[in-house]
Amino acid sequence: MSGRGLILGIESSCDETAAAVVERGSRTLSSVVASQIATHARYGGVVPELASREHLRAIVPVVRAALAEADITLADLDAVAVTAGPGLAGALLVGITYAKALAFAQGLPLIAVNHLEGHIHAVLLHERESSPEEGGGFNPRIMPTESTWAGRDGFQPIQLSPEGNSSKANEPALALVVSGGHTHLYLCLPAHGAWSYSLVGRTLDDAAGEAYDKVAKLLGFGYPGGPWIDALARFGNPRAVPFAFSRIKPKVHLGGKPPRTKAALTAPIADLNPRFLFSFSGIKTAVLRYVELHELRGEALKRAARLFPLQAESLKGMGFSPYIQPPVEGRALAPAESSSTSPALPQTKEEALALCPQQVLDLAASFQCAVVGDLMKKTFAAAESLGARRILITGGVAANRELRARFSAEAARRGLRVAFPTLALSTDNAAMIAAAAWPRFQAGEFADGSLSGNPSLALGR
Ligand code: KG4
Ligand code: ZN
Repeated sequence: MSGRGLILGIESSCDETAAAVVERGSRTLSSVVASQIATHARYGGVVPELASREHLRAIVPVVRAALAEADITLADLDAVAVTAGPGLAGALLVGITYAKALAFAQGLPLIAVNHLEGHIHAVLLHERESSPEEGGGFNPRIMPTESTWAGRDGFQPIQLSPEGNSSKANEPALALVVSGGHTHLYLCLPAHGAWSYSLVGRTLDDAAGEAYDKVAKLLGFGYPGGPWIDALARFGNPRAVPFAFSRIKPKVHLGGKPPRTKAALTAPIADLNPRFLFSFSGIKTAVLRYVELHELRGEALKRAARLFPLQAESLKGMGFSPYIQPPVEGRALAPAESSSTSPALPQTKEEALALCPQQVLDLAASFQCAVVGDLMKKTFAAAESLGARRILITGGVAANRELRARFSAEAARRGLRVAFPTLALSTDNAAMIAAAAWPRFQAGEFADGSLSGNPSLALGR
């Protein structure tokens, strides 16, 4: 233990094996992410069994790389933090088992972190790194004397780290967590220098990122689809196809049907205002209808075969949707199976038109315009109705350029503040887990050896 407040974060909830060292929840010393995307791309989505296998392969080298990059050894760490859920059961288990063993062997406290809380801390970490004077202070009094881990069924009320004397620390914030597994709105309320979370809205079916992935797949582009649609939409006409989101009527969403998706399972919906509920399965079907009506499917399949010949050949007839690794900031370990022949995302209109006709660019632009518009409408309505003047937007879809630009412009127009993580911190990473663990470390909230993963772990009330 160095007493410097060094926390090793470990994240393995889905298809990224990540480790990071963050000092006092406010300074990233290293952040390493090993992506499994090349492994899953040939199947058009994440295969849970393969994810567990890849986490097992990657976890040791990724943690070693994070320590080396931070220029520290295990002996310098003050705690080990790990994602406890939500996520894939087998994938969570790898990170948790490794973190437990490491903490036990080194005599370090173990801290369990909710993945969604981690995403929110990605924004807070970025804010603290941008203005370091606002970072929380290290409290060396607190040592790992007893476990306060509440077990797999729930977390204690969330305590976010105090954000110095900034006025930001005293006002409520609305957080939109928008990723491949979640589209959730949380009201983050300050209480004595800390925060508590309550769920105020969420998707009833697909997450927004899931819709991006499915639409990209349908159009013959790679997995994950978000970066592709983001790149293509810049060169299309967003008014070409008038997609519309129907209103979710009060109580209709309580029809007694069991939730259909992973995203829908993570929280109850009974008490939520229907104005703050999302649904993305309809627009996905609308895109499918448009593609069929305009006979674009054949063209999409030809493109997939042209752009990804090896994978397309091996997956003939399987609805194959391959992946091309998007350029990301920060450090990423190259996946063992990545393809060196992956085409790059288009940067110019000419490059985009070399990939697909204008009609597909227009479709991508219209889809994205509608999705971002719906996210904005409900997020701003919730912020206004709940009195939040500060909005935090995080998760993989928060990397989207149109989303960032439009949310920022609308927030400025309404006199609200909006904050995003860096692009590297928007998608899954372990720096956000180590940052979220810091206030728990300060409060002495530690997990014990009985910690296990909870695939549908909820955040807040
Ligand atoms: O947060 P994340 O890495 O993993 C989950 O917790 O789900 O989010 C991944 C999701 C994928 O659905 C991906 O398509 C989407 O984030 N995504 C994007 C962009 N980059 C990633 N969606 C829209 N625009 C992007 N630039
Ligand atoms: Zn995530």
